[in-house]
Amino acid sequence: MKDLISQLFHQRFATTPVFYASSGRINLIGEHTDYNGGFVFPGAIDKCIMAAINVNGTDKVRVFSADLQQYTEFGLREEDAPAEQWARYIFGVCREIIKRGFTVNGFDTVFAGNVPLGAGLSSSAALESCFAYALNDLFNENKIDKFELAKIGQSTEHNYCGVNCGIMDQFASVFGKKNCLMRLDCRSLEYEYFPFDPQGYKLVLVNSKVKHELVDSPYNKRRQSCERVAATLGVETLRDATIDMLNEKKDLVSEEDYKRAEYVIGEKQRVLDVCDALQRSDYETVGRLMYETHHGLSQQYEVSCEELDFLNDIAKECGVTGSRIMGGGFGGCTINLVKDELYDHFIQVAKERFNEKYGHEPIIIDVVISDGARRCD
Ligand code: GLA
Repeated sequence: MKDLISQLFHQRFATTPVFYASSGRINLIGEHTDYNGGFVFPGAIDKCIMAAINVNGTDKVRVFSADLQQYTEFGLREEDAPAEQWARYIFGVCREIIKRGFTVNGFDTVFAGNVPLGAGLSSSAALESCFAYALNDLFNENKIDKFELAKIGQSTEHNYCGVNCGIMDQFASVFGKKNCLMRLDCRSLEYEYFPFDPQGYKLVLVNSKVKHELVDSPYNKRRQSCERVAATLGVETLRDATIDMLNEKKDLVSEEDYKRAEYVIGEKQRVLDVCDALQRSDYETVGRLMYETHHGLSQQYEVSCEELDFLNDIAKECGVTGSRIMGGGFGGCTINLVKDELYDHFIQVAKERFNEKYGHEPIIIDVVISDGARRCD
């Protein structure tokens, strides 16, 4: 990828760039908990967005997407927002840095990526984090701290892309560390690295190729449900709610909002239980909790879809230790914790049965937990 963007950069801009990258992410457990002040447990993966960048001495950003084969340019004032959705991620990052009183001047860039789009692996957070990291290095002597870089990506989603997301994806992309998952407390922003190398198991993603679209989607509605319930219970976020508190006010919340909140309250505890189980190398418990999360996401939070429920059922039938839908939902992947000896069988059955039913094979993505945002010299 580096060779490709290097070549394209030289052809287009004829100067010598610096290279930066940032990663997509997985999340072992803790879904839709981040914007509720709960816990998440993600890790960065070996699929990334990489950009070649050089300062160009103008007040314009000139950008070429190698994957889309599209070029655009834009200025750095609010009214200069580009029309192309993909460029708005970069424009948003520039604007959010400027709004915080830091510097961005004109630059040239070519970027490419191998994070599958719409698979729930946070390709957009990888793009934001790559540019936030790069512009901090190129224009700001790395004065912006890493949490602020993650928040710059998150604000880009909120203010320029229409997704009212939490902090998990950008956090994972910026803070990712090889072979480690990270438990983040989204209320205090304290985090801890957990070495993750489950002996005798593989972590594999099965991508249904059903595309989710979070913009204007039920994602924002889920968040509104949670906020409504928190307000009814008199707490800032559902992090501070218990199931007893919810039951006390059951009459005051709609049936739908009740289900959403019930899921979030359960999921908050599941993350902590998974972390404990991992420390005992108790993968059976980790797996059981992953299935519970899937059930909650499917039946209570209602962000699954037929194809992902089908993949989850196949995993169960094959004796896979843990399986669940991963990410925001409405399509994308399942994440599966599979015993080494079951792996080949599971993959074969998942491919065959899915193909029989939906007319295409799912894509198998083996996961390697890797570093997050970085300069690539
Ligand atoms: C998307 C959002 C995250 C998080 C997940 C669900 O990936 O960007 O902030 O809410 O969905 O856990």
